Amino acid sequence: MDYKKRVLVTGGAGFIGSHLVRLLINSYPNYLIVNFDKLTYAGNLENLKDIESAPNYVFQKGDIVSADDVKSVFDSYQITDVIHLAAESHVDRSIEGPMDFVMTNVVGTVNLLQIAKDAWKEGEHVFHHVSTDEVYGSLGEEGLFTEKTPYDPRSPYSASKASSDHFVSAFYHTYGLPIKMSNCSNNYGSHHFPEKLIPLMIHNIQNNKPLPVYGKGENIRDWLWVEDHVKAIDTIFHKGRIGESYNIGGLNEWTNIELVHFLCRLMDKKLNRTAGESEKLITFVTDRKGHDLRYAIDASKLEKELNWKPSITFEEGLELTVDWYLKNTEWVEKITSGSYQQYYTQMYDNR
Ligand code: NAD
Ligand code: DAU
Repeated sequence: MDYKKRVLVTGGAGFIGSHLVRLLINSYPNYLIVNFDKLTYAGNLENLKDIESAPNYVFQKGDIVSADDVKSVFDSYQITDVIHLAAESHVDRSIEGPMDFVMTNVVGTVNLLQIAKDAWKEGEHVFHHVSTDEVYGSLGEEGLFTEKTPYDPRSPYSASKASSDHFVSAFYHTYGLPIKMSNCSNNYGSHHFPEKLIPLMIHNIQNNKPLPVYGKGENIRDWLWVEDHVKAIDTIFHKGRIGESYNIGGLNEWTNIELVHFLCRLMDKKLNRTAGESEKLITFVTDRKGHDLRYAIDASKLEKELNWKPSITFEEGLELTVDWYLKNTEWVEKITSGSYQQYYTQMYDNR
């Protein structure tokens, strides 16, 4: 088939990537979607079981750090566009060991940029880099991150993402590579790896395990449903301006402790527990090193210019998410056996 675009999605087997791949497969039958993923602990092809035999879908295992792997996928499928999500994504892991973050997030991104630049001599192309609000650092009680907020990354993870963002901009300014960039707030939803706050709390509440809240639980995050994030990526990829970056967020700030209380109450209802039962599991533990106090996104550029807005409330999205986890216990069991146990012991025992 003569596809209109042949889009390389890196990290398509991860949490956000799998939602994006599904959306693109279903919305654009005239695009070939090539999912390129190393399948680290965070990559899981089970996330895409429902669409794996779609005619416009291909999976290719590979490492973005390897020039041979990336050149081979560009050549095999004559890639016209890239949506780049592959990354090491967990802040706590970056504190334990920053080097994997430098390799994948920085070196891997530059490798992709270089190969796209060499491959795209003519025609229309887009290199969409998916990034995070953490590059802007930490807010006090007031204010929101805009696209003009100076970069001020604090953790090894955010430093690696900030570095990758700078390389993406550099390839636009220096070589004219047609880039677009998006910086999103905290996502939640189905298929989220249970090292992250919301799926970890759901899993522990269900299994009557302690709920480890860092510090006093006063840190604030701005939560967005993953389906709304991938719709925003789709919108920016198609309609955003070349060379521009767009912030994505839903004006939905919660302190961690308020959020954990909310989840406990929701889970008590879902599991037919007496009110207050799950809240007894809350345990305050040693804070994350360098813990950013508050993130909050001003997404008005995206809303005004491209007419995007979140489709559901946090309460609706959390209920859908909890229902998904309670229905998909096999998915959770598979990924929480084996190396997850070792990770959990290392991260949380004696904390
Ligand atoms: P994730 O950890 O769930 O998935 C990452 C995926 O990348 C996995 O499938 C993994 O196998 C793959 N990968 C890792 N290293 C690779 C390599 N060297 N080569 C090829 N594939 C590799 O991450 P996520 O939460 O889905 O995040 C996706 C992207 O979105 C990341 O770039 C992240 O920085 C960004 N982001 C995430 C959030 C969030 O709340 N999760 C918010 C804003 C931005
Ligand atoms: O803001 C976007 C970022 O959101 C993404 O770029 C990252 O890839 C993604 O992991 C996420 O980073 P956070 O560090 O904000 O997410 P995490 O789920 O790890 O933690 C959310 C908050 O909850 C944070 O303040 C730390 C706290 N926390 C986390 C865990 C895992 C706890 O209190 N206890 C925990 O066990």
